[in-house]
Amino acid sequence: MKVSKLLVGLFACAVSLGAYAQQPIVIKFSHVVANDTPKGKAADFFAQKAAELTKGKVKVEVYANSTLYKDKEEMEALQLGAVHMLAPSLAKFGPLGVRDFEVFDLPFMFDSYADLHKVTTGPVGKSLLAKLEPKGISGLAFWDNGFKSFSANTPIRTPADLRGKKLRIQSSKVLEEQVRALNALPQVMAFSEVYQALQTGVVDGTENPISNLYTQKMHEVQKHLTLTEHGYLGYAVIVNKKFWDGLPADIRKQLDDAMEQATRYANQIAKVENDTSLDNVRKSGKTQVHTPTAAERAEFKKALVPVHKKMESRIGKETIDAVYKATG
Ligand code: LMR
Repeated sequence: MKVSKLLVGLFACAVSLGAYAQQPIVIKFSHVVANDTPKGKAADFFAQKAAELTKGKVKVEVYANSTLYKDKEEMEALQLGAVHMLAPSLAKFGPLGVRDFEVFDLPFMFDSYADLHKVTTGPVGKSLLAKLEPKGISGLAFWDNGFKSFSANTPIRTPADLRGKKLRIQSSKVLEEQVRALNALPQVMAFSEVYQALQTGVVDGTENPISNLYTQKMHEVQKHLTLTEHGYLGYAVIVNKKFWDGLPADIRKQLDDAMEQATRYANQIAKVENDTSLDNVRKSGKTQVHTPTAAERAEFKKALVPVHKKMESRIGKETIDAVYKATG
């Protein structure tokens, strides 16, 4: 009797261990934007590829639109291992103590996606990602979004039109300096709070690529959008290093392949997504879209380029020079 009970117990244990062995490895991937943005689509694409290439051994759970964590919280959660993967904007690494990433925030630093890729796909990008390692974070890739434009409830033709305005920015000291260079007032705020802040007048305006503006419905509470394209916004895909290094080598290799494909996809769709969003903003009739003349854009450039020199000691002269050199 006793022996048979023991056998039954052992059998039950073996069955549950078998079931346990078949449980997929879960990767929680948190982000703050809508699903139908360049980052949202690329995250979903990665989840699908990861399942495919690992034959279901990995399940990537994507939490979009700040449903799991907001900007600042998600970085802390990653370091604690409560979430495994993120793709924060490059403007959000300063609070982590890695200031070099703010080089991407410098206004008028990149003339085109092609310019930018010279940095993100080359040795400079690689050495930037390596700076995350001491923070317990591994950088896997750079994903594009696009070029930011200013919006407000009053027309924006020249920098003078933004004087005294409260402008929401991401948590970057370079962006703070950029807004001050326009004689406007920077307000750092989590992405999830921007729509309401614009709606209630807590801030007067903001800057974002159009895909973010449109998918958060900011165009419904901003009467004017000027296509200044004065700065870049993109992402670094990052993971908790301990978790990532602890994955079985074959699985990690398959995930690296999935990430490579997702990165190609992200960078293919980014411009198209932003162009489509701009069409949609125009069609909505809620925001007047202004394309600056060459002279108007030159005025923004004149006001904002001095930010490069001012931020040299914060970002590091070598990093800024390396980017100048890479973009030629
Ligand atoms: C923002 O806060 O404006 C952006 O960084 C959001 C994002 O992730 O694109």
